Amino acid sequence: MGLHINPSILSADFADLTGELARISSADMAHVDVMDNHFVPNLTFGPPVVERIRAVSPIPLDAHLMIEDPDTWAPVYAEIGCASVTFHLEAATAPVRLARELRAAGAKASVAVRPATPVESLIDLLPEFDQILIMTVEPGFGGQRFLDVCLPKIARMRKAISASGLDVMLQVDGGISTETIERAVEAGANVLVAGSAVYGAEDAEQAIAHLRETGRRAAAAAAEA
Ligand code: DX5
Ligand code: ZN
Repeated sequence: MGLHINPSILSADFADLTGELARISSADMAHVDVMDNHFVPNLTFGPPVVERIRAVSPIPLDAHLMIEDPDTWAPVYAEIGCASVTFHLEAATAPVRLARELRAAGAKASVAVRPATPVESLIDLLPEFDQILIMTVEPGFGGQRFLDVCLPKIARMRKAISASGLDVMLQVDGGISTETIERAVEAGANVLVAGSAVYGAEDAEQAIAHLRETGRRAAAAAAEA
């Protein structure tokens, strides 16, 4: 399973999204944080802006919906062309039905958990999902410190995915840098979201390459161990 680096545009200059997306063309996907000021205490943008981001982005979109009522709204993001749509387990009423709707609309179905939410209830549901996102900060803001207390949960989910034999990606989001990426990858993550570590760098493409290289080395070392 390959390693994916998805920069979060939350730390980009919102007044120049076209230019900011061009800075990450070597990444796998652009991570787009949708916040509604209800599920999290922050507000970003909604479908019309995401649709424009999709139109100008050189790479596919990985939408992360930190919103209430994803049962109503998540399918809209699939319909406007997001390649992957992540909703929060804590906010969804019918996660299985919603995952099926996302797949039917042509998107990868992905579900996220906050740091204090257990992943055990998702284990039997793995066939319904293309990706699980384990948050490694409390969602809402970029630039927070990576929560090492989430590492055992990442490892448990990786074990469950391996045991299932399914091709489910394991994403981590929050506090990923060249310093923390090794621990996340060793625990079993293979999709790494990084906001401030990419957009805070002078050369974003170089920061992506550095994260990719550090992550690959950690994955190779973990495979040998
Ligand atoms: C936080 C967002 C993240 C955030 C990550 O709620 O979901 O995607 O942008 O930013 P960093 O990498 O700075 O922690
Ligand atoms: Zn995110």
